[in-house]
Amino acid sequence: MIAVDGPAASGKGTIARALAKHFDLPHMDTGLLYRAVALNLWRWGGDPTIEFEALRACGDLRFDPDDEELRSEPVSRIASKVSSYASVRAALLQRQREFAAQDGGAVLDGRDIGTVIAPDADAKLFVTASPEVRAQRRVRELLERGMPSHYEDVLLDIRARDERDSSREIAPLRQAEDAELLDTSGLDIEQSIAEAIRLVERQL
Ligand code: C5P
Repeated sequence: MIAVDGPAASGKGTIARALAKHFDLPHMDTGLLYRAVALNLWRWGGDPTIEFEALRACGDLRFDPDDEELRSEPVSRIASKVSSYASVRAALLQRQREFAAQDGGAVLDGRDIGTVIAPDADAKLFVTASPEVRAQRRVRELLERGMPSHYEDVLLDIRARDERDSSREIAPLRQAEDAELLDTSGLDIEQSIAEAIRLVERQL
């Protein structure tokens, strides 16, 4: 089982999907679970500052992973907020642990896979990149999706999200002690994937 953690727009999602393909394993993007909770809440007009309302939004978590709304800015912001609640994290825990424990292995990516969901993972990567590089990537990605944005706004948002994800009390974003660090700042996608495969193979 391979755990891939890291901050927003670090490249961890692309890397996790490539690892899943390379090692022929199923993949779960755990950020989508938090985004699905956020989207539920947003659609209901629920208040993300009230933990009980966020917890209610965990109830029916069927979602279409290709739904563009899951990746919209308001939903991203609400996802970051609801993920700080212990009850929300607990509600999503079992689904992730079961996926991680399936026969034959799996790749999961998120913020706390190597630290909380699967501390005994066979291989762990912590993928990062400078906030500036991540903001540039996000701007390009949003543009490709037909959602033009301003670099400065995106950078501020990334820094704010890093701060919230790293400073929360429960399951904060941090590198597991036994995770390999992969800084993709100076690497393109192909180089990042090649390096990720090398680092994982070294741990298996
Ligand atoms: O990875 P992604 O940006 O899609 O994650 C959306 C939000 O979900 C993040 O801001 C983060 O706070 C939260 N998250 C989390 N734990 C995970 C995955 C995502 O707290 N394992």
